[in-house]
Amino acid sequence: MISTIPTNQMISAILNSIDESIHAVDNNGMTIFYNQVAADHDGVSVDEVLGKHVLEAFPSLTKETSTLLKVLETRQPIIQQPQRFENIKGQFIDTVNTTIPIILDNNLIGAVEIAKDYSTIKTLGEKVLDLQARIKPQIKQGKSKQVHSYTITDILTNDPALMAVKSQVEKVANADSAVLVVGETGTGKELFVQSIHHSSGRSEGPFIAQNCAALPESLLESILFGTTKGSYTGAIDRPGLFELADGGSLFLDELNSMPLELQAKLLRVLEDGVVRRIGDQKTRKVNVRVIAAINESPLDCVQNGIMRPDLYYRLNVFSLFIPPLRERNFDIELLTSHFVEQFNERFSKHVRNVEHTVFELFHQYNWPGNVRELKHTIEHAMIMAEGHTLSVKHLPVQLQHIKKSTETKGIQPLRSAMQEMEISLIKQALLQTNSNIQQAAVLLEIPRQTLQYKIKNLNIIV
Ligand SMILES: Nc1ncnc2c1ncn2[C@@H]1O[C@H](COP(=O)(O)OP(=O)(O)OP(=O)(O)O)[C@@H](O)[C@H]1O
Ligand SMILES: [Mg+2]
Repeated sequence: MISTIPTNQMISAILNSIDESIHAVDNNGMTIFYNQVAADHDGVSVDEVLGKHVLEAFPSLTKETSTLLKVLETRQPIIQQPQRFENIKGQFIDTVNTTIPIILDNNLIGAVEIAKDYSTIKTLGEKVLDLQARIKPQIKQGKSKQVHSYTITDILTNDPALMAVKSQVEKVANADSAVLVVGETGTGKELFVQSIHHSSGRSEGPFIAQNCAALPESLLESILFGTTKGSYTGAIDRPGLFELADGGSLFLDELNSMPLELQAKLLRVLEDGVVRRIGDQKTRKVNVRVIAAINESPLDCVQNGIMRPDLYYRLNVFSLFIPPLRERNFDIELLTSHFVEQFNERFSKHVRNVEHTVFELFHQYNWPGNVRELKHTIEHAMIMAEGHTLSVKHLPVQLQHIKKSTETKGIQPLRSAMQEMEISLIKQALLQTNSNIQQAAVLLEIPRQTLQYKIKNLNIIV
């Protein structure tokens, strides 16, 4: 059934129910839309702003300081500007604002500003920086211990491929170059990253971790590189994580979520060894080793345009690939016994054996959450277990039923397996030749026309 509610009302109901503040004006600067979140930010009521000119509704603004009026004048968007202001109730609000012109058939018909409130996340981010700045001297003097501090002996494995990666850690630790750790979620990247730091000459220095997916671009930038007073409204002189990690290691987790522009800035720090705080004239020398982790194939990230090739080549000087648990057949028994012991102690249980059928099931399952998922599975089973033996009935229900589905799943059809292989080889050839189809065809030993046809047919992005 087609709705009879007018589109305008629908749109305004939607825009009023989202978390962002929205302020739209027509090409004369008159407010045509202003939602409740915006009113809460500004400490006014919607009626005081709706239908009024920006400068009438907000007398403290001028033609020069109003971003909406500026965008109407320049027709250029202003993207992700951090702003700090005190609202009428005296509260400080930190927002990230994006203001864009609204253009219809080449005519400017208005502008809209969308702002997200990051006050809480910013306060937390700053608290972390302050705490890190405070504990840094203690770390330097060897007084502070990391809460979760892993070394190479914590990485348990019987798998030949992973044992080979472990043996690379000692070598790479002392080479002091940047390292990229690649592995699916839960494979143990954090363990490897910390082990590299602890086995290196920097082990007495700070180890600082930052997840690149956790913060919006502008905040991540200020947290990594630091700020200077006046670089944006409310900004203060503050060192970034690069300065705080001086003499130690900086762990950039989920690097694939770092925006491309910031990746370029990161590359410059890696190349030159200097950082420039946002808004600062001068650069500062830093002695930091960057260890980055990503949870998808770096080649795919480059191919899909989410990782800069130059940064990839810079980090790829040394990469550690951690195989997923489903490929580490020897590890399932080892890790299971390890976690059983751990939870025996934690829950005061007395499990001594694990039924053979449990392992059969574990070997059939594909463990998308890898070691972390195995750990949680054992935790569940140990809570359920009563006697000395852990059996299938103690496992989470969904795992008890996977047997049937894996049995019926069988082998991947040859045609789709071949196609996957073909796509992967073509992508690699394109990457190696900087997307030069002629050269890629030579590498693949097929005619250029055939390659072109396959790229089109298989929907490969060049
Ligand atoms: N080889 C191992 N030996 C012992 N414990 C392990 C091993 N690998 C992983 N673990 C345990 O599994 C859990 C997940 O590991 P970790 O946090 O290092 O994964 P990750 O690869 O960083 O995952 P994500 O991408 O989700 O951040 C941790 O509790 C860790 O202690
Ligand atoms: Mg991790």
